Amino acid sequence: MQTKMWIPENPSDPKDASIQEAARLLNHQEVVAFPTETVYGLGADATNEKAVSGIFEAKGRPSDNPLIVHVSNREQVDLMVNHIPDVAYSLMEAFWPGPLTLIMESNGAAASNVTAGLSTIGIRMPNHPLALALLEATGKPLAAPSANRSGRPSPTKAGHVKQDLDGRVAGILDGGTTGVGLESTVLDCTSDVPVILRPGGITKEQLEEVLPHVAIDPALAGSESDKPKSPGMKYTHYAPESPLWLVEGEDDFFIEQLEQLKRDGQRVGVIASHELAGKLDHAPVIRCGSRDQLSEVAVKLYDALREFKRSEVDIILTEAFSEKGVGAAVMNRLRKAAVQVVSED
Ligand code: TXA
Ligand code: MG
Repeated sequence: MQTKMWIPENPSDPKDASIQEAARLLNHQEVVAFPTETVYGLGADATNEKAVSGIFEAKGRPSDNPLIVHVSNREQVDLMVNHIPDVAYSLMEAFWPGPLTLIMESNGAAASNVTAGLSTIGIRMPNHPLALALLEATGKPLAAPSANRSGRPSPTKAGHVKQDLDGRVAGILDGGTTGVGLESTVLDCTSDVPVILRPGGITKEQLEEVLPHVAIDPALAGSESDKPKSPGMKYTHYAPESPLWLVEGEDDFFIEQLEQLKRDGQRVGVIASHELAGKLDHAPVIRCGSRDQLSEVAVKLYDALREFKRSEVDIILTEAFSEKGVGAAVMNRLRKAAVQVVSED
């Protein structure tokens, strides 16, 4: 399959020629990648099972992992859920369009492979002009997971999508670098107290400004063990080419780990804040922003994970960041991406 690349002239206009062409392909059961404010998504008509199966095929995604449905208006939500809980109304009001996926009871209108057989469905309205224009032009809700090969870091640039999916998808709409850099927060609204299933672009602190109570899925807390993980155990999410080690501790501890690996003859790539990078006498180092600006770290993280090539580095060392605000999402992704967590205590 030849993958088309488009840079729309009028990215917010549903009538733009390349957006129209992408919409036409989507309406013919093809899959097309497009930017959202979080990461690039791989879209297909959410009401068409054959179209949706193209997403799983292109990504190599396990069929039991449900997809998020993207909408450009509230009517499209009504079409797919039994009822909208009050709490979900308040959240749509406060955070849509934006990086918040709401899990509600499905009414079965979406193709069955979108929900992977679950009785619930995840829906969000992306806050990106090109995504909204494409949704308008297509006139359908679009199922869209992140547009990476399964297991790889999510794409924050059209070039990342091309690296992973060239020849496997009908087209890629290029809207430049995405703004948030990490995926949406996934919030289960089917219980009395909403539960964060995946931390993301909307922080727990932001949700708490609107909701009296927000819970966190215990499975997330469970992954916070500071014990070293066995190599390979978690080498399945957001994985860079070379194994990633997450170092938790003071800067001096990080420097000790780095020096030890170098003495062992390892070629080490480093992902660090400006603050830590400034103390290192080492290359290559990717600086991904300031410790005090975790939103900057979020924007750069996936690009950094893709930057180091297996032919150039044996191990990637990253520092651990604060879990405040969007830091919770940054650390969730780093823990999943890391094959080893090295802690000072
Ligand atoms: O920011 C995002 O959310 C991006 C952009 C493209 O919108 N999409 C994205 O999709 O990250 P994906 O497929 O990579 O991640 C979707 C997550 C998965 O962890 C999936 O298990 C969960 O949402 N999910 C989807 N539907 C669900 C449901 N009904 N119940 C529980 N979890 C669900
Ligand atoms: Mg993903």
